[in-house]
Amino acid sequence: MSTHDLYTIPAELSTWNVEMAGASRFTWEYDDGRDRMLALYQKGKDKQWDSTKRIDWDLDVDPYDVLGVPDTTIAIYDTPLWHRMDEQTRKEVRRHGAAWQFSQFLHGEQGAMICSARIVESVPDLDSKFYAATQTMDEARHAETYARFLQEKVGLAYPINEHLKALLESTLSDSRWDMPYLGMQVLIEGLALAAFGVMRDITTKPLPKQILAYVMQDEARHVAFGRMALRDYYANLSEAERREREDFVIEGCYLMRDRLRGRETWENLGLSRAEVDEAMEATDRSEYLRLFRSLLFSRIVPCVKDIGLWSPRLQEAYAEMGVLEMAGQSLEALMKQDEEIADRIDAARFAEEEAERAAEVAETIALGGSS
Ligand SMILES: [Fe+2]
Ligand SMILES: [Fe+2]
Repeated sequence: MSTHDLYTIPAELSTWNVEMAGASRFTWEYDDGRDRMLALYQKGKDKQWDSTKRIDWDLDVDPYDVLGVPDTTIAIYDTPLWHRMDEQTRKEVRRHGAAWQFSQFLHGEQGAMICSARIVESVPDLDSKFYAATQTMDEARHAETYARFLQEKVGLAYPINEHLKALLESTLSDSRWDMPYLGMQVLIEGLALAAFGVMRDITTKPLPKQILAYVMQDEARHVAFGRMALRDYYANLSEAERREREDFVIEGCYLMRDRLRGRETWENLGLSRAEVDEAMEATDRSEYLRLFRSLLFSRIVPCVKDIGLWSPRLQEAYAEMGVLEMAGQSLEALMKQDEEIADRIDAARFAEEEAERAAEVAETIALGGSS
């Protein structure tokens, strides 16, 4: 079945073309790798996994309750609009919300795959090219996984959100080699990682939990890669160059906080214009979403600080957004925790399979004994 059959709003039928800018760079230095970067590359190779094997696709998902979370996570919960809805419409609200969210993850993963392929081309040194090549493969596996989840389990998809698209476009159409890193590895990945994290931690359903935890395990390496490359490079920028990057970060953060909020799901549920506005106002007011939006910055803010884009101007912008205190988060601790959670899920599944196998063996022996 074509994904176009699943889109609630018709998506562009042909490809979306972003003009490429800047050079593809070859290097003839094959020997001068940085140890830390090569260690990350090795880890990238060692930790590849196959979603057809690692994920238990036999698990059922209720498309009307994808994550198994309480309705208090829905922006319009307990508003007059919610009370006016019948149960069938509320079911659709739950399904469309999840379809929108996972669709943006899917399109974001394709964006990440294209951006990392771009980094392979444009970054000057070989060890970074090697690493970005493993990331390209990681992102392909992530896109494959989310696509399958939407296709087989949710049965509904949304086209890419226009603001996410705008951010991807400004990231990809810039000829400076560091901009795909900054836009993709720091901003979009940071945002996605935080969103995956919230959902991984609140979902009560095993399939989305596996998917989110396994994808996050890879994403931790991607963020580490962006930090490593940019920290070195940004240490030597001129004042004007640094200012341009900071402007890009500030603008991108406001855009992600204020614009990426899924207005299209409400428009698509057959609500009147006034009701869509009502839903968006509820989105602004919702305590849960306020918390969610600030959590979205938990990975971006410490990363921006770490790569040295930490002028008073940027700090003021974060203070204004109410997320400055996120700078104190330890990225290392968060990423270590991501690894552990994925390992624990593996261990639990492995134990379950072991028990099943043992039961089968016992059954076979019993059968043998009774014959
Ligand atoms: Fe990814
Ligand atoms: Fe990634």
